[in-house]
Amino acid sequence: MSSVGEDEVSSFFESSPPLKNMEDILEKLNGFIELNSSGGRRIVCVTSGGTTVPLEQRCVRYIDNFSSGNRGAASTENFVKAGYAVVFLYRSGTCQPYCRSLPDDPFLECFQFPDKTNIQVHSSHVEAVKMAVMDQQAAVAEARLLKLPFTTIYEYLQMLRLIATALKDFGPCSMFHLAAAVSDFYVPWNSMTEHKIQSGSGPLDISLAQVPKMLSVLRTNWAPKAFCISFKLETDSKILIEKATKALLKYQVHAVVANELSTRKEEVVVVSSSGNVVVRRDSDKPESIVEDNLIRLIVDRHSTYIKESHT
Ligand code: PMT
Repeated sequence: MSSVGEDEVSSFFESSPPLKNMEDILEKLNGFIELNSSGGRRIVCVTSGGTTVPLEQRCVRYIDNFSSGNRGAASTENFVKAGYAVVFLYRSGTCQPYCRSLPDDPFLECFQFPDKTNIQVHSSHVEAVKMAVMDQQAAVAEARLLKLPFTTIYEYLQMLRLIATALKDFGPCSMFHLAAAVSDFYVPWNSMTEHKIQSGSGPLDISLAQVPKMLSVLRTNWAPKAFCISFKLETDSKILIEKATKALLKYQVHAVVANELSTRKEEVVVVSSSGNVVVRRDSDKPESIVEDNLIRLIVDRHSTYIKESHT
């Protein structure tokens, strides 16, 4: 293993609470992969949203982060449009593919009752709801979209490992698009208190351990032939490109998408060995989002990678 100690990774997984629904996840995943392998499609795993870090085993409190899941959901729509089958590994409750144009605040205002037995979508939202339902149903019916939810850092990393090892035989035709905001620190399960932490004991002092960087393991062991895109988020634009370049070299991914917190919906920089490319949304088109142009570029790069892997 390149930069993560094998012991550190094994001890993370050995001490994690096992996934509750592992058999169900595996069944769905294997079925999805089988359907798509016979169709000769490319498969991408898009990770999305933030992971929580529980502070108690019977969790009442947890540490979380800002990620809305917008990037992952919008990327998923664009990958499906480009002909990919997508395993969407997302944080429960975050943004979903095809729902961006629906009002979320308050969603129920979309609906009205013409009489006691019927429900209708309000005329102002008919088009958006129709498109969302049709696109989502088509993607699922054609086995182009498999949605797998997670909440905690423990669930996320175990599920990522399941997906990566299940996709190993897909080789260069598989891709990882790691847009989730993954916790860097956590409370190890064995050192976590079982019950709710009592406030009467005064100020809380907790020590957080470092989550092993799984990118190394993914690249080296789990799915070494897959095309791999990681993300780098910073709040200080002065260090963003330098950090992304370091990550590119350290984890040997195929590209790092660098984004700054406050401008992430306007532009990103794709950092790779062939140079840095700034990708922006088309500001003259109100509907345009940065993922339309970003995924087009990534799909092109993936095509080149597949061609080169076969020569
Ligand atoms: O969800 P949105 O609100 O739309 O925002 C999108 C986004 C800003 C979350 C997204 O574009 C993004 O940048 N995601 C990655 C954020 C992040 O976790 O950056 P990082 O620098 O902490 O991690 C870099 C990479 O290492 C990530 O691809 C992550 O998957 C990986 N990682 C992180 C921790 C860890 N223990 N193991 C990892 O492999």
